Amino acid sequence: MPLKDRIQEAAAFIAPRIADAPDIAIILGSGLGGLAELIEVDTAIDYQVIPYFKESGAPGHEGRLLFGKVAGKSIACMQGRLHYYEGNSAEDTVFPLQVLNALGAKTLLVTNAAGGINTEFEVGDIMLITDHINLTGASPLTMGDEQGLYDFLDMSYAYTPKLHETVRAVAKAQNLTLREGVYLGLRGPSFETPAEIRAFRIWGADAVGMSTIFEVITANQVGMQTIGLSLITNMAAGILDQPLSGEEVMQTAAFAAEKMQNLALGILSELRT
Ligand code: HPA
Repeated sequence: MPLKDRIQEAAAFIAPRIADAPDIAIILGSGLGGLAELIEVDTAIDYQVIPYFKESGAPGHEGRLLFGKVAGKSIACMQGRLHYYEGNSAEDTVFPLQVLNALGAKTLLVTNAAGGINTEFEVGDIMLITDHINLTGASPLTMGDEQGLYDFLDMSYAYTPKLHETVRAVAKAQNLTLREGVYLGLRGPSFETPAEIRAFRIWGADAVGMSTIFEVITANQVGMQTIGLSLITNMAAGILDQPLSGEEVMQTAAFAAEKMQNLALGILSELRT
């Protein structure tokens, strides 16, 4: 079935189950599922019951959609995302976001756990993503449109510049040190080598992770405004003389959850939808 029809069918399954159409889509990164506590949840739907949705198998990812209100705004939240490293295609990873957009979401707040490449960063910092480097070697747009045509999407303003001001102002009001920088996305699932991290630093990357890139490409394609936030859960490979672990990522996410939650709440309060 054509993608457009699959999106419509999934949206038609969800629409009668929710009270309000969402204005904002939120994607919660590894270990950041607790951000869902912010939401006055009206409806929760497991991915597995929604037509054409795949399940999320990564640790720290619940695999359900939450619909409800945060700061009076109608939101839809992906508690758990699909990763490319799980063997999903790039297209698969963005299907839920396309459905949320079809339901009405015009703004995307995307979060992730990332390794800090910039040596001025500290574990537990939050970085506003101002741009990205797609090193996955893939894109959700390789199928073209319905006619198989390609529109060579502009990515010059992928992370909506005017919303950077909003995020900075909220962080300032909360006395929060907000880092800013370039997110480099890889397929994973192994962490990087120290040599890779040194190379990425020279390229201008500040943080590295295994998500977000495809979702942001799709958000731009469908005309959603986008805010990206990385939680620096660890310093990237080779910076500290210690091995990296998924456990460290989860522990930092848990310890910085409240900070991320407050920032997200502040941003959502300020967003005009
Ligand atoms: N590398 C890639 N992805 C990550 C990292 C990292 O160091 N930390 C959290 N996600």
